Amino acid sequence: LANGLAATPPMGWNSWNHFGCFIDEKMIRETADALVSTGLAKLGYKFVNIDDCWAEISRDEKGSLVPKNSTFPSGIKALADYVHSKGLKLGIYSDAGYFTCSKKMPGSLGHEEHDAKTFASWGIDYLKYDNCNNDGSKPTVRYPVMTRALMNAGRPIFFSLCEWGDMHPALWGASMGNSWRTTNDIADNWDSMISRADQNEVYAEYARPGGWNDPDMLEVGNGGMTKDEYIIHFSLWAISKAPLLVGCDVRNVTKETMEIIANKEVIGVNQDKLGVQGKKVRMEGDLEVWAGPLSGYRVAVVLLNRGPQQHREMIARWDDIGIPPGTTVMARDLWQHKTLKQRFVDVLTATVDSHACKMFILKPIS
Ligand code: GLA
Repeated sequence: LANGLAATPPMGWNSWNHFGCFIDEKMIRETADALVSTGLAKLGYKFVNIDDCWAEISRDEKGSLVPKNSTFPSGIKALADYVHSKGLKLGIYSDAGYFTCSKKMPGSLGHEEHDAKTFASWGIDYLKYDNCNNDGSKPTVRYPVMTRALMNAGRPIFFSLCEWGDMHPALWGASMGNSWRTTNDIADNWDSMISRADQNEVYAEYARPGGWNDPDMLEVGNGGMTKDEYIIHFSLWAISKAPLLVGCDVRNVTKETMEIIANKEVIGVNQDKLGVQGKKVRMEGDLEVWAGPLSGYRVAVVLLNRGPQQHREMIARWDDIGIPPGTTVMARDLWQHKTLKQRFVDVLTATVDSHACKMFILKPIS
């Protein structure tokens, strides 16, 4: 969607993966504080996104959504002011149906103009728009009603389509939103994470500045995967130009989690201005090479070992990853934070352990 808001994939935090419906204004404020104090905000994590369960089950007499009095007593406007005072942006959640997925609050179907104006008046910067409990009509009918309502609301609002991929939103999302879910909900385990990466990869050619494929939010830091698996999770989301929406409790973030989500070089791949989604360029059993072009003739590469065997020898071939034959390349290891001494021509080989990956930026030098 050409609203100027998604030149690169969005970065921030969302409440759902860790907290579900157990959210309140105090923890949202504390999360904003934590994004700043940990340094994550400076790295680009600007959106503080409230997911489902923030509103009362009934609208007020004017037809407006009402923040839940027991958990958001100060209202969303006050929260937006607070979040903005920290240099961050506030996101909210609604649904293109009668109720949201939790059924604990109303959806926006039939109230699109009104709700978009309400969100704008509160100072909302991002809307995640879910697809539960709708009237059975096509999402391609219901979603653009909200797109137009947001366009009329008088405030630029990032529009995230949450249709879960059933109707192939990559094929139609770009005219309606800034990102579209390509998958069902992620869970905090290896199979769920890696299958979402796979399903999202299929649509690589549809991503571009202004609109991105969304394989769902990050689980890094929630405890269900090994450190190497979380490194794979973050590497694949980065090279896939996926939204980087942290889904753990950033108020209590560990050093190990920070090493992953605060990796500037990997974030740099995600936020590269070329905005081309990387994809699988070679699959041999458990071994996969993912690659995508970056600005300045550079190429990002992930060497991924999905299988049980340790120490697998992997090869990134220039042929596969789009570097002209004969080109000499400098390689930067983005997880070791090291530029390799060796120069590479035509291939780069590396050893990759089970459920682990290596990630490089290759830079042609001659
Ligand atoms: C759906 C969405 C999730 C989350 C929940 C909230 O399942 O896909 O990301 O927003 O609803 O109920």
